[in-house]
Amino acid sequence: MNILIMGGPGAGKGTMSAKIVEKFNVNHISTGDIFRSEIGKGTALGMEAKSFMDKGLLVPDEVVNNMVKSYLEKLEDKKNGFLLDGYPRTLDQAKAFDALAEGSELAIDKVIALEIDFEKLADRVTGRRICKECGEIYHIKSKPSKTDNVCDVCGGELFQRKDDTVESLTVRLEEYSSQTAPVLDYYDSKGIVTRIDASQPIDSVWNDTLTALEK
Ligand code: AP5
Ligand code: MG
Repeated sequence: MNILIMGGPGAGKGTMSAKIVEKFNVNHISTGDIFRSEIGKGTALGMEAKSFMDKGLLVPDEVVNNMVKSYLEKLEDKKNGFLLDGYPRTLDQAKAFDALAEGSELAIDKVIALEIDFEKLADRVTGRRICKECGEIYHIKSKPSKTDNVCDVCGGELFQRKDDTVESLTVRLEEYSSQTAPVLDYYDSKGIVTRIDASQPIDSVWNDTLTALEK
C-alpha cells in the first residue's frame, strides 16, 4: 500500500507516520527529514534547501521532485509500499509524481488528511522536541519525555527545530494555504482522501488513521 499523509505544520504527520511505519512496515519518505539530514551532512542539496526552510518557505519544486525520484530509485525493498510525508505539497509536485508513477507500482492508494485549526498549531510546533539520535518526536505538554531533554527510547539528546518559531510558522501556514491546500482538492477528486480530526489526543487520531487504512 502506498500512502500519503497530509496536514499543516505541526498537524501530526510525523507522529502518525512513526505509527504507520511500525504497523504496516512501509518505507517512510519524509522530504522534511531528508532535507534536515542533508543539512546535517552539509551537502549542496542541504545548503540549497536550508535557505528556504529557515524562512518557512517551500523548497523549489524541481529540487524536491528530483530528490524524491532518486530516493525512490534507490529504495531496495518496495514490497510493502511507502508512506509519503510532506510530499507532494504543491500541484506541480503532485503532477510530477503522477507522471513518475504512471505505469509503475508507485501510485498513491490512500491519502490521510490531518485537519486542525491553525490556532492550535503554534503550541504544537513551539513545544515540539525531537531526538537527535533516533528522531522520536516529543511535546513538552502532550508527550513529554520522562527526563527533560533526554529521549526515552535511546537516551539521545532532544533538540528544537530551527523553523519551530511562531515567525516561521506564520510563513509555513501561508505556504500551506496557498500551495498545499489545492493538492488535497486534487486527490479528493480521485476519491482517495480520508479526513481525520487531528485536534484529538494522539491515540484517538491513531485509531481513526488505522481505521481509514484498514478499510
Ligand atoms: P516538514 O518537515 O514536512 O514540516 P511541516 O510540514 O511544517 O510539518 P512538521 O514536521 O512541522 O509537523 P508534523 O505534521 O510532522 O507534526 P509532528 O508529528 O512533528 O517540512 C519542513 C520544511 O521543509 C518546509 O517548510 C519546506 O521548507 C521544506 N519541505 C519539505 N517538504 C517539502 C516539499 N514537498 N516541497 C517543498 N518544500 C518542502 O507533531 C508536532 C508536535 O505536536 C509534536 O511535538 C507532537 O508530539 C505533537 N503532537 C502531534 N500530534 C498530536 C496530538 N494529536 N495531540 C497533541 N500533540 C500532538
Ligand atoms: Mg513532520
